[in-house]
Amino acid sequence: MNRRLTNYWNGKTILITGASSGLGYALVEALAPYRVHLGLLSRRVELMQELANKLHASGSQFWIRACDVQKRAEVENAITDFVKAAGRLDVAWVNSGIGGETSYRKWDWNRVESLIDTNLKGALYTAHTCLQYMARQNHGTLVGISSVAAMRGLAARPIYSITKLGIAYYLEAMAAELPQLQFTTIYPGFVDTAINRGNPRRLWLMTPERAAQLMITAVAKRQREYIYPWQMRWIFRLVRLLPAGIYRWVGGKMIEVSRPQ
Ligand SMILES: NC(=O)c1ccc[n+]([C@@H]2O[C@H](COP(=O)([O-])OP(=O)(O)OC[C@H]3O[C@@H](n4cnc5c(N)ncnc54)[C@H](OP(=O)(O)O)[C@@H]3O)[C@@H](O)[C@H]2O)c1
Repeated sequence: MNRRLTNYWNGKTILITGASSGLGYALVEALAPYRVHLGLLSRRVELMQELANKLHASGSQFWIRACDVQKRAEVENAITDFVKAAGRLDVAWVNSGIGGETSYRKWDWNRVESLIDTNLKGALYTAHTCLQYMARQNHGTLVGISSVAAMRGLAARPIYSITKLGIAYYLEAMAAELPQLQFTTIYPGFVDTAINRGNPRRLWLMTPERAAQLMITAVAKRQREYIYPWQMRWIFRLVRLLPAGIYRWVGGKMIEVSRPQ
């Protein structure tokens, strides 16, 4: 086992939202070997229970709670109860999220509102509650899962893009105000999970297991920002530099190719 990872993760108390599938599930599997105390939140409690049973022999402890991140009181109560049970909160992964198209032609207010309620408001409920404990303890790590979709206003997915930029800006602002805490913003590219299945253009697709290893390493290295895979790191920076006119042209082409013939 890598010494840096062991030194950083061993014995930590860690809260993860969206632990029932995809990246959250893979993170739990990646962290369990470090004898951690994990607080798992999501709505599908049976999937988290199966995961905990599967990892029983790891020596880690699992605390599970059904929680809808759209409901502020549920999030606050769940985090408070986990901190009481674990005694402190070392790391929180703000990970729960949903995707979906919200182009002008496919605009659906229900989809728009649930994206904002889950990815932005849900992330803020989680992050702010965790920060209240971490600021009091004077230590802690807040990890936010943004997306490469935050690089510019993403054609056909503007609301997803807004929510992911929103969490990144929130973490950046909080990091300036609370320098005693560690903040890491992660911008994943395409990882093979339920959120993007059916999308035929998943560039440089990665497994959730590989993604989880990269993410726990980036956090252990105390990186402030982490974009993966490496190809996306370059695309992200390049696209942010594009003049608005060129970016609009590229965005228009992206919508054209994604439209059914
Ligand atoms: N996969 C990618 O390529 C990719 C790329 C960039 C960013 N991301 C981000 O990574 C994060 C994880 O997504 P994923 O790829 O792992 O997708 P996923 O497999 O669909 O997992 C999403 C997780 O979010 C939870 N969730 C959704 N709505 C929730 C709610 N209202 N309350 C509580 N939990 C909720 C789900 O749990 P329940 O349904 O059980 O509640 C599930 O565990 C998301 O924030 C996503 O935007 C993913």
